[in-house]
Amino acid sequence: MRPTKQIYINYTAEDILVWKTLFNRQLKNLENKVSSEFMYSLERIEFNAETIPDFMQVNKKLKTLTGWQLVTVPNISEVDEFFKYLAQKKFTSTCWLRSMQQLDYLEEPDMFHDVFGHTPLLSNKSYALFFEAMGKIAARHIHQKEIILKLQRLYWFTIEFGLINENNKIKVFGAGIISSKEETAHATGNSSLKSDFDIERIMEHDFRTDVLQNEYYVIDSFEQLTECLKQFEKELEEDKRSIVT
Ligand SMILES: [Fe+2]
Repeated sequence: MRPTKQIYINYTAEDILVWKTLFNRQLKNLENKVSSEFMYSLERIEFNAETIPDFMQVNKKLKTLTGWQLVTVPNISEVDEFFKYLAQKKFTSTCWLRSMQQLDYLEEPDMFHDVFGHTPLLSNKSYALFFEAMGKIAARHIHQKEIILKLQRLYWFTIEFGLINENNKIKVFGAGIISSKEETAHATGNSSLKSDFDIERIMEHDFRTDVLQNEYYVIDSFEQLTECLKQFEKELEEDKRSIVT
C-alpha cells in the first residue's frame, strides 16, 4: 500500500539514499541542459540532496510565493481529479520513493518525479499561472472527453516534456525530462526532433507514455504558455461552430 499522507519519520535510510543519489545524479546530468529558471526555483524552494523535502515546509514556501500547494496522493491521479486540483492551485503528488534497484525506470511516478521534477517551477509566477489556467479550462469542460484529451496533450508537451529557448540554447523544463537521466540525454541530444511551439499541432498530437518522446516542442518563455491558452480556447470555439454548421 502506498502512503496517502507524508509521515516524515517513516522514511527509511534507503529512501534518504535514493533521494540523495537521484538528486546529485540529475543535477550533474542537467548541467547546461536545464532551464536557468528551474535552477533558480530549486534554490528558491530550498531543495537539497541531503534532505527529503517535507511537504509542510514546501507548502509554506509555495503559499507565500505563488499560493500553490502539494496534495498527497498514493498513486498517479485520475485525469478528472488531477485537473480539478490544478484549478484550485493544488498539485497532486506522491510521497513515496522508488527503491535503489529501480533508480532508472519506474512505471508510475514517485516522489522524485513529482517533487524534484514538478514542484520547483510551481514557485515561478508565469509557470504557475499557466498551470492554474489550464486547470480552469479543464474544469469548465470536464465532461467533454475530446477537449480534456487536447488539454492532456498540451500538458504532456509542456509541463512534462517541454523545452525552452534561452539565449538561443535549447534547455529542458518539463518534469518528465528533468527527473529522468535517459530522457534528459535524449531530449538534449541529436536523436530527437525539436519543433517550434505550435498549439494547433499539439492539440492533435497523440503521445505515448511508455517510450522516450520522438518530438519535443520549444517555447520562448513561460509567458508564451499562458498566451497560447487564448488560442487554445479560440480553436475550441471554432471546433464547436464547425460542428453546429
Ligand atoms: Fe509528471
